[in-house]
Amino acid sequence: MRMGITITAIALAMSVQIGAAPAQDAGGEAWAIARGAQLYDKWWAVLKAPKPEDTHAAYPADGKYKADATWRCKECHGWDYKGAEGAYSKGKHFTGIKGIAGMAGGDPAAIAALLRGEAHGYTTEMIPDAELANLALFVAKGQIDPTPYVADGKSSGDAAAGKAYFEGICAGCHGLDGKKIKDADPLGAVAGNTVEMMHKVLNGQPGEAMPGLRVLDTQIAADVVAYLQTLPQ
Ligand code: HEC
Ligand code: HEC
Repeated sequence: MRMGITITAIALAMSVQIGAAPAQDAGGEAWAIARGAQLYDKWWAVLKAPKPEDTHAAYPADGKYKADATWRCKECHGWDYKGAEGAYSKGKHFTGIKGIAGMAGGDPAAIAALLRGEAHGYTTEMIPDAELANLALFVAKGQIDPTPYVADGKSSGDAAAGKAYFEGICAGCHGLDGKKIKDADPLGAVAGNTVEMMHKVLNGQPGEAMPGLRVLDTQIAADVVAYLQTLPQ
């Protein structure tokens, strides 16, 4: 937990500077970080923007994906933010690219500048400055280390505890069985990737009115993910 304390201390020190900057939007920091995290997931769905058609220049030529998929931050840096050192160290998502975990506690302005640089190539037409600031804030202050919440690939959370949160917060849209949304896969069928589920449950689904549980304890998100993994497929 020493790492957590260090990040908290840096985050606190930085929030003083950020507080002095002009407001970027009407939301507070928790809102901005969750929005940034949704941009990390699939920015054009959040922004209702056209998706890129070319394959990203930094994506490996022998990689398994092409076009828009290669512009999602998560495709190169992973749901666990650990890139080639995490879940994407092998398999069809392997790129060999490092993660972003090392930038936790970093300077959001420097992170935003990095994303505008030639290697990343995110233009203002793709992601406007105010939205890029949300994304950089997520990288700097919003990353969790999901590893302690994963055991044998599944959530290590308490599914029985997660059930109450699911029924209270999620079931109105998703149904008690996770199958209520038409044209969407049952939640039980998509819940297998624990680190992906942690990201989505903490931050919400890009472009949807779905709430993120970031304002609650991370353990609660892990409990909900454990419950999702028990739902019918
Ligand atoms: C097509 C692949 C690709 C995509 C998509 C991508 N990046 Fe990167 N990113 C890279 C590469 C390559 C590096 C440089 C890694 C190195 O220095 O070894 C990098 C580095 C970074 C770093 C610095 C990490 C460090 O510790 O030095 C951050 C932060 C980052 N990217 C954030 C993002 C964000 C946020 C997005 C989405 C808007 C994104 N990246 C999308 C390929 C990608
Ligand atoms: C306001 C309605 C709403 C609420 C409340 C809501 N969601 Fe969602 N959620 C959606 C919509 C809409 C989608 C997108 C479905 C689609 O088209 O794939 C979605 C997508 C998801 C996905 C991604 C599914 C996939 O195919 O990748 C997960 C996981 C998820 N929700 C879990 C939850 C959990 C857990 C909660 C409660 C903490 C929750 N949702 C609350 C509306 C909601």
